[in-house]
Amino acid sequence: MSTASTAPPSDTDANWWRSAVVYQVYVRSFADSDGDGSGDLNGIRDRLPYLRDLGVDALWLTPFYRSPMVDGGYDVADYRDIDPIFGNLADFDAMIGTAHTLGLRIIVDIVPNHTSDAHPWFVEALAAAPGSVERERYLFRDGRGENGELPPNDWESIFGGPAWTRVPDGQWYLHLFDPAQPDLNWRNPEVRTEFEDILRFWLDRGVDGFRIDVAHGMIKAEGLPDVGRTSADGSPQIALLGRGRLPYFDQDEVHDIYRAWRPILDSYPGGRMAVAEAWAETPQRLARYIGPDELHQAFSFDFLDATWSADSFHKVIDTALAESTIVGAPTTWVLSNHDKPRHVTRYGDGPVGLRRARAAALLMLALPGCAYLYQGEELGLPEVLDLPDELRQDPAFLRTGQTRDGCRVPLPWSGDLPPYGFGPQGCESSWLPAPTTWAKLSVAAQTGDPASTLELYRAALHIRRAHPALTIEDTGTGSLTWLPAEPGVLAFTRTADAPGSPELVCVVNFSDAPIQVAGYGNSIVASAPLGQQDGEPMLPVDAAAWFERPQLG
Ligand code: NOJ
Ligand code: MG
Repeated sequence: MSTASTAPPSDTDANWWRSAVVYQVYVRSFADSDGDGSGDLNGIRDRLPYLRDLGVDALWLTPFYRSPMVDGGYDVADYRDIDPIFGNLADFDAMIGTAHTLGLRIIVDIVPNHTSDAHPWFVEALAAAPGSVERERYLFRDGRGENGELPPNDWESIFGGPAWTRVPDGQWYLHLFDPAQPDLNWRNPEVRTEFEDILRFWLDRGVDGFRIDVAHGMIKAEGLPDVGRTSADGSPQIALLGRGRLPYFDQDEVHDIYRAWRPILDSYPGGRMAVAEAWAETPQRLARYIGPDELHQAFSFDFLDATWSADSFHKVIDTALAESTIVGAPTTWVLSNHDKPRHVTRYGDGPVGLRRARAAALLMLALPGCAYLYQGEELGLPEVLDLPDELRQDPAFLRTGQTRDGCRVPLPWSGDLPPYGFGPQGCESSWLPAPTTWAKLSVAAQTGDPASTLELYRAALHIRRAHPALTIEDTGTGSLTWLPAEPGVLAFTRTADAPGSPELVCVVNFSDAPIQVAGYGNSIVASAPLGQQDGEPMLPVDAAAWFERPQLG
């Protein structure tokens, strides 16, 4: 096929993902090449040199497939084509070709739990009769109640309301998300074959990996049993996400799907990988998604959810490392994504939130394993809290009031006024408006300013790439050694295998007073300037620093 030339950066480095830094591109909000207010594939291609210079290894692109965009593209109508607002397949090929030339890998999002209601399969299913092969690709059921007027069970949509919608002939179909996102029936072999073919379609086009949407959701418990608690009785089922058992999530048979996918990935050269967006009751159950015969990575959402304290981070780091080490995989750290309020705001917003977010970046980037960055965190962007309601697009907003739009505002690239160079010159708007206060946060405004968050990320990413103590070799999982530290402080070392190479010490001060850091070696990067007391260096409050020192012993 025409894309055969898009070879991955290095066919020999099959373990690239073990210590990679992956940059999440929310395609609609990254860069707009044609001035329609929406980010697109050519916009990404134009900005690839920025990402190479930032020092990341790979990009994860959120869905760009043909879609009615009810859920920002997580409602796919054609898994083998690009939505016209993002470009076309030739643009995709050009983008991945340029990325590979620059040494950047490309991970694409795959959405196997549900399709769009505009997908030909669902259109056919609606036109067909109950019990037909067309309906068997989804989860159609008769309702309960005398005339089938009640949903088949008590399951609730993640976006609020019942997870069932009734069709004109009286049957109901399951949608764990929006009614425009019908759930597929993964007990039907035709569905499995179709997705294996879709994986091959994108692998043939040169993609280096997949981010698997709702990776814990494809198999539902036999018989679709009730959960037994609902929002109506004050116990929303979503409260169990990642904490309890649900008959529609994390069923044991879901692992059969990944055991079938892994040989497909392994049959391609260059270390093609997959990362799970999976929610499970415990870290132990989450770890079952990763390992040599299933997926390569699963996001540690406990790390994202950790509150700003040494204890909270210490605990989630220890648990995540222990679980992933058992299955022989490195851990996958993440602080923000397109579904959560940005961490600057979660950590306190304003100057305090930004200080903490900068410290958290140094913490995450010093940990063993792979780190995912969400576009704009390198600029220290806060959540946009004051979007006018009429502009909000998140389907969850209409049903629950909860909104994910505030972290999806287009990136500020340059200039003094919105949309800050997001589109071509003269383009005055973007699909969501950027705040009028963002001029100083743009890429251009921060570039070259050593105090900026962008330059902090650049410095840390370049050290991370070059430093032997921060690289995981071959099939390793990486490890850290905690150092004794006073309450409210985390300190650990990373050590290279190579004898004689210096170790790296990361220290984070969560406490409410500056701490002495004289014993840790030479500071090589810090999230805030180190102070001095009695001639000794001090790490201020809500700050982190990396130090280098000879390996002891
Ligand atoms: C998780 C995605 O990250 C989110 O944006 C989406 O709404 C749901 N899955 C449904 O596909
Ligand atoms: Mg555009």
